[in-house]
Amino acid sequence: LVLILDFGGQYNQLIARRVRECNVYCEVVPYKTSVEEIKKKNPKGIIFTGGPASVYGEKAPKCDEGIFQLDIPILGICYGGQLMAETLGGKVNAATKREYGKTALKLKSDSALFKDVEQNSICWMSHTDFIEKAPEDFVITSSTEDCPVAAMENTAKKLYAVQFHPEVEHTEAGKQMISNFLYEVCECEGTWTTENYIEEEISHIKDLAGDKKVLCALSGGVDSSVAAVLVHKAVGDNLTCVFVDHGLLRKDEGDQVEEIFKNKFKMNFIRVNAKDRFLGKLAGVEDPEKKRKIIGEEFIRLFEEEAKKLGEIDYLVQGTLYPDIIESGTETASVIKSHHNVGGLPEDMQFKLIEPFKYLFKDEVRAVGTELGLPEEIVWRQPFPGPGLAVRVLGEITEEKLHIVREADAIVREEIKKAGLDRAIWQYFAVLPNIKSVGVMGDERTYAHTIGIRAITSSDAMTADWARIPHDVLERMSNRIVNEVDNVNRIVYDITSKPPSTVEWE
Ligand code: XMP
Repeated sequence: LVLILDFGGQYNQLIARRVRECNVYCEVVPYKTSVEEIKKKNPKGIIFTGGPASVYGEKAPKCDEGIFQLDIPILGICYGGQLMAETLGGKVNAATKREYGKTALKLKSDSALFKDVEQNSICWMSHTDFIEKAPEDFVITSSTEDCPVAAMENTAKKLYAVQFHPEVEHTEAGKQMISNFLYEVCECEGTWTTENYIEEEISHIKDLAGDKKVLCALSGGVDSSVAAVLVHKAVGDNLTCVFVDHGLLRKDEGDQVEEIFKNKFKMNFIRVNAKDRFLGKLAGVEDPEKKRKIIGEEFIRLFEEEAKKLGEIDYLVQGTLYPDIIESGTETASVIKSHHNVGGLPEDMQFKLIEPFKYLFKDEVRAVGTELGLPEEIVWRQPFPGPGLAVRVLGEITEEKLHIVREADAIVREEIKKAGLDRAIWQYFAVLPNIKSVGVMGDERTYAHTIGIRAITSSDAMTADWARIPHDVLERMSNRIVNEVDNVNRIVYDITSKPPSTVEWE
């Protein structure tokens, strides 16, 4: 285990990802974590992250100074390195010239951190303060044009600091440096692999659940699907998956999910076909917020009804991911997201939780899913909103409009996949804006629906840019939709980013 002490830097999760890519398990903890707690966790190494503060600032986040006496190797990055310098008697100051971007790194002396790193390799700088003077007992191991102390170390005390960011891609040898810290300095063993994780987690869930009953609200999305398969390996038939088909799913989606979980993985699988119930409640409703509310409430009611039928349930499986925990658990993170639970389940339901991925990142969950034999369509599924196509048919929902948007969406997805863009584009789908316009088809005037194509690139959907889909791919989509889907005569492409737009149209 390596601990990452979070000082609020924007690349913190990236540091965690890099460490895990080196097959070393790590956890991100708040900078205030006490020496006692750190000792209890017995880490092989500690990494201090960067952060927006200045070490001389009034509100500068500072860790317990006892950490430096633990004889555990520490790597301080940017703010973390400045904090190390300032605490141990060096000098940090505001740089006269703010250094930002790619800079050549001059190596000055042999350092375990720079093993196999070439002279003048490019590193990524992003700072306003800099280490002006290293503490007395430190050796300066590299510098840049504007930075006298780009890296410093005290090998006897196992303390290392860098001013640049080894975790970002722009630092050419960054991964090598992190690997050097983990293997050369911390002497990690590198046993963190997907296979080991699956094995350990299955045995952990077995111990936890014993022969108790476990319930999973399955949406067919990546996280709940992989969680269901993993938990199934641990508790077998004690797991029941409930899949609510609200009639607002994409083309063939319900059948695909049923085929995979019921037939392929042979799980206890309850599909609740509730299309009529949902569409009945939604009839005549135009307001987007009202639509969402109705769907959310109806979903909870149906789920409760099914859970009741099953009798006493002890555990609920949730696909919570590590970023949710980091973001809601550390006070320095700038984006605070509240924990959402699966499908908005009622808060008063008394379950204990099984969250097998609460220490994993999305791509690690995907690796687990692949290892467990889940098909690509599930493992690489794009995010899909809980209220489904209801928020992609603007205004009132009818079966006819759902049919149109579902068929158009299937074509959009097919063409994106054929063009090999399905992993590069975060989300891509069709919307039905509820506009009819005049067209001409085979000498006849038409008056038919418009379909909007929405495709975005993003890393978290908090912000997004519209995807630059090649024109010939757009052309194929457009031709196919007007030719293959009845009652559509016009296709438009949404070229707004988020903000000011949102990803979905409702
Ligand atoms: P917006 O439209 O808010 O979407 O920019 C951001 C991301 O969230 C997804 N989304 C939802 N997901 N329930 C969900 O589980 C919802 O009600 C919901 N609304 C939007 C959206 O697809 C995008 O990925």
